[in-house]
Amino acid sequence: MSRCCINPSILSADFANLESELARIATADAAHVDVMDQHFVPNLTLGLPVVERLKAISPVPLDVHLMIEDPDRWAPAYAEAGCDSVTFHAEAAAAPVRLTRELRAKGARAGLGLRPATAVDPYLDLLPEIDMLLIMTVEPGFGGQSFLEVTLPKIRRAAQAIRAGGGQVALQVDGGITEETILRAAEAGADVFVAGSSVYGTDDPAAAIDALRVAASN
Ligand code: DX5
Ligand code: ZN
Repeated sequence: MSRCCINPSILSADFANLESELARIATADAAHVDVMDQHFVPNLTLGLPVVERLKAISPVPLDVHLMIEDPDRWAPAYAEAGCDSVTFHAEAAAAPVRLTRELRAKGARAGLGLRPATAVDPYLDLLPEIDMLLIMTVEPGFGGQSFLEVTLPKIRRAAQAIRAGGGQVALQVDGGITEETILRAAEAGADVFVAGSSVYGTDDPAAAIDALRVAASN
């Protein structure tokens, strides 16, 4: 298996101390930043002004996950802000191909996200247009939920299509990733793992990141 990426979600970090919370995950591959608008999901987090400041101080790349309506309008600014990857949801985008091209043109890796109940097959033709496919393994909106086993066949299907296309697209899973569930997601073919509560819910996030890396390759 190729090397996996562990991207802790700062949704479970202390929002009053984001600079020191990012410093605690300096050994991660990226910091996963959940942007929620209280419309696409029933929760509200942070937006572009905060992400711009996080970009200025983060020791790791930013992996932005936009759980927002109208990403066609709002997502490009996150690429302009220097975010390494910008993922928007297929269910919310009016013109996903135009948007991924715009994100790439602005220097970001383009990610396409799918809610647990969204089928992957209609989007497989878009693989050449994206850098990352995100399969949500919980309903988006909140941290600390349980991994949805029902998403495993979809992860397998996506991984198979990515391999068939030459393997250029990262396959990210997000939600309920723990030392227990990460191996099942990895065996199904995921290679980028978002983990919020299982990293920031511990006393030692760096040790939790190491433990997830080990558990993913067991
Ligand atoms: C949920 C977010 C996730 C969340 C994951 O909608 O997209 O990134 O932080 O949290 P855990 O790892 O606790 O399930
Ligand atoms: Zn997320």
